Amino acid sequence: MSNAPSLLEVDQLSVSFDNKAVVDRVDLRIDAGARVGLIGESGSGKSLTAAAIADITPPGAEVTGSVRHEGRELVGLHNRARHRLRSGGIALVSQDALTALNPLVRVEDQLAIPLRRRGVARRRCAAEQRDLLASVGLDDAERLLRGYPGQLSGGQRQRVLLAMALATQPSLLLADEPTTALDPTVQAEVLALLRALTTAEQPAAAQPPSLLFISHDLAVVAQLCTHVVVLRAGRVVERGPVSEIIAAPKHSYTRELLEATRSIGMPQEVS
Ligand SMILES: Nc1ncnc2c1ncn2[C@@H]1O[C@H](COP(=O)(O)OP(=O)(O)O)[C@@H](O)[C@H]1O
Ligand SMILES: [Mg+2]
Repeated sequence: MSNAPSLLEVDQLSVSFDNKAVVDRVDLRIDAGARVGLIGESGSGKSLTAAAIADITPPGAEVTGSVRHEGRELVGLHNRARHRLRSGGIALVSQDALTALNPLVRVEDQLAIPLRRRGVARRRCAAEQRDLLASVGLDDAERLLRGYPGQLSGGQRQRVLLAMALATQPSLLLADEPTTALDPTVQAEVLALLRALTTAEQPAAAQPPSLLFISHDLAVVAQLCTHVVVLRAGRVVERGPVSEIIAAPKHSYTRELLEATRSIGMPQEVS
């Protein structure tokens, strides 16, 4: 083991409302190249953990503890510094593409925002947008770019969200149940895409982003992730390499999650 800092180091992270912690002293490490699954039932604090890492907690949330990205502390920074860090650093793909995208703004104008923030020249934007859409498996770029989110299918919208996240060239991608709202077939396609984008399957020059993948489905995490962290009522109850946790879960809650997965059947291989 090297002593080099991990890409992301979360220490004793808590998120509270009215002094009640809904994320409770969570520790989390994500190394470059790792794909970490954060799993737990609904209400266990998964989304707020991701929101605290991405610095988008809702009003009224009090965040304490430490989130270090590439050694740099993110909790307690002033807003402007945080906004600068967010582009090129940590990108979030949320569950609900319909609300994450602005329904009144054309896809090309939404996709231009992270590109412009990254400093891509206006005249280069169109070509970059086409490349980004191609990288998330969307071919009909001209038509899609001129359209509005409501004119796209659920799967297309989720791919556009992924393209917007990739436009910032993140080192870490946070994906909060990115396929839950999709049909099973589309779900499998988007998961396969996520895997391709976060693994060095292609001999691409650039290091793919690491992944924090949030799910309530251990079977999906087993296919996509290298490690898993199990959250229950805001606390980490178990963590480890995904193969070890699946083979021998130590905590009864993890066993319950595993049994719930088995009873509804393991999904098809995603790639
Ligand atoms: N804005 C809020 N105000 C008060 N409580 C909240 C707010 N958002 C979430 N919570 C509570 O925090 C807990 C964790 O929520 P969340 O992180 O969304 O869970 P998960 O993503 O695991 O389903 C839940 O019990 C939820 O009721
Ligand atoms: Mg959630």
